Amino acid sequence: MAIRSPSVSFLPTLVFLLANALLVAEATNVHYYDFVLRETNITKNCTSWSLLLVNDSLPGPTIQVHKGDLVFVNVHNQGDYGVTLHWHGVKQPRNPWSDGPEYITQCPIPPGTNFTYEVNFTTEEGTLLWHAHSDWTRATVHGAIVILPEEGNTYPFPKPDGEEIIVLGSWYSQGDELNAVLAEDLDEGADVPRSVGYMINGEFGDFVACSQDSTYHMYVDYGKTYHLRIINAAVSAELFFAIADHNLTVVGMDAAYTKPLVSPYIMLSPGSTIDVLFTANQTPGRYYMAARRYSSESTDVTNFDHVVTTAIIQYSGNYSLDSSPIFPNRSLPSYFDYDAADSFIFMLRSLASEGHPSDVPLNITRRMFIVASISEILCPHHDCVIGPTTIGSSLNNQSWENPSTDVLQAYYKNISGVYTADFPDFPPVFYNWTGDDMPEESGVSDKVTKVKMLEYNESVEIVFQGSDILRGAESHPMHMHGYSFYVVGHGLGNFDNVTDPLNYNLVDPVLVNTFAVPRDGWIAIRFVANNPGVWFWHCHIDRHMSWGMETVFIIKDGDTEETSMRGPPSYMPPCEDSYNIARMKYRRLPRQISHT
Ligand code: C2O
Ligand code: CU
Repeated sequence: MAIRSPSVSFLPTLVFLLANALLVAEATNVHYYDFVLRETNITKNCTSWSLLLVNDSLPGPTIQVHKGDLVFVNVHNQGDYGVTLHWHGVKQPRNPWSDGPEYITQCPIPPGTNFTYEVNFTTEEGTLLWHAHSDWTRATVHGAIVILPEEGNTYPFPKPDGEEIIVLGSWYSQGDELNAVLAEDLDEGADVPRSVGYMINGEFGDFVACSQDSTYHMYVDYGKTYHLRIINAAVSAELFFAIADHNLTVVGMDAAYTKPLVSPYIMLSPGSTIDVLFTANQTPGRYYMAARRYSSESTDVTNFDHVVTTAIIQYSGNYSLDSSPIFPNRSLPSYFDYDAADSFIFMLRSLASEGHPSDVPLNITRRMFIVASISEILCPHHDCVIGPTTIGSSLNNQSWENPSTDVLQAYYKNISGVYTADFPDFPPVFYNWTGDDMPEESGVSDKVTKVKMLEYNESVEIVFQGSDILRGAESHPMHMHGYSFYVVGHGLGNFDNVTDPLNYNLVDPVLVNTFAVPRDGWIAIRFVANNPGVWFWHCHIDRHMSWGMETVFIIKDGDTEETSMRGPPSYMPPCEDSYNIARMKYRRLPRQISHT
């Protein structure tokens, strides 16, 4: 039958259908995921373990979307303690209810129940991660988030021939007792667990016993270019990463594009995600990609895992597989190479192009100076095994203590006694932060639940100063929920508020959600407080976070509905039940804050 032009009577239908198609094209794409958390048996390091995993996999499932999509993740907790999940780097405009950090925006999801998170993608484009945000459950509960350009749009670099997700993880010998041991250590004031291994996509690689057969392989063709989405999901370790004989070109970080930066290695803080390109342009063969611990602690702290985790890049073609793969001897920096770490992160710049412009706040209305320290905490429960003080950490000498009702709920419902709104803009005393001559009391901090309130749309500048208090100088990757921020300045030593701002980069500073305050150094960051809600701010090294290096920013509502925080969904996990079930098992009940 010949195709006829539509008769007049069909036209209205056609017009209607076309209009509809346009509407659909403009509407957000919605995706649904089911995440089932349960104890799963896996074998690693010659031993069988039962670990809490999502959908039985380590790393967990990948969330893949286009920029601007909307995702609902239904989390079914079939484990035996409370958990929360967090969508790291997703700004979640006006909706902290789905952000996840325990006792900040929600109470844990009790075992045997489920909770649906709404993950709303807006400006993010590139790579992020999701992870548990309760206790140290994220050791085994984490995965990748891939955000492709909007449909019809392209990358700001030539389309790679292939892409691969590389999730770096850490391994604890405590297995599923990790949270219990952690809780006990925190109660007793003892040192908290350190990982004993690192992994690439859930595998230790060739240098660990019983692991060679499952080493992760990436297969490449000579002459092609590949996009690696590299994620540091380790709990407490900054990591160097390199590929033998292949340069890496950084093109994005924390779901924002960067100016292409060619480097033989990269350094990722926990929570950082870096997009790199590399071209398979070497003699066909096998090459290791490898990650090694970057320890920013003093060189006499050596009780960390020194084993390098590896995966294999395997070229197609005819060559002998007998010889072992080439190792990045020259390019992978060593454990204490502070200079290698600093010089890499200081070189990052945002793309700042017409299609991806920078928008650095220029007229600052709120300045804060926050000193990040390892601290002594007067033993909170008077039963510390190691003496009258315990090891802790702090921001401006305030060491955070989680309340038992989440801050968001308390803010929304005006419940008093949960937090106070007096987090200080400056440290209590000024001294030579990076010297060895600090007064004793500079190292003592209080356990408090103090938040910082900001007016809607304030332009904020924060200088984070690292300190050597208690000879505890170390890098602190600061992470903010609900926002990305520009790193307009950085340096080693003490921040100078007269000369250092003269060197700020207000043109193309890197735009990130996590950035390392270097060992014995500082960074200056800027953002506009235009996302109303309750947002967690913390060091992403969980050792430090569990010791108290965090606070909460509450950004007040603006004048309109579009500039105000949304109300809660119809169901939020209950606070009493969840900590009864979750906490009784592992630790004493969190206390209400006390005022001293
Ligand atoms: Cu990666 Cu508070 O998060
Ligand atoms: Cu830290």
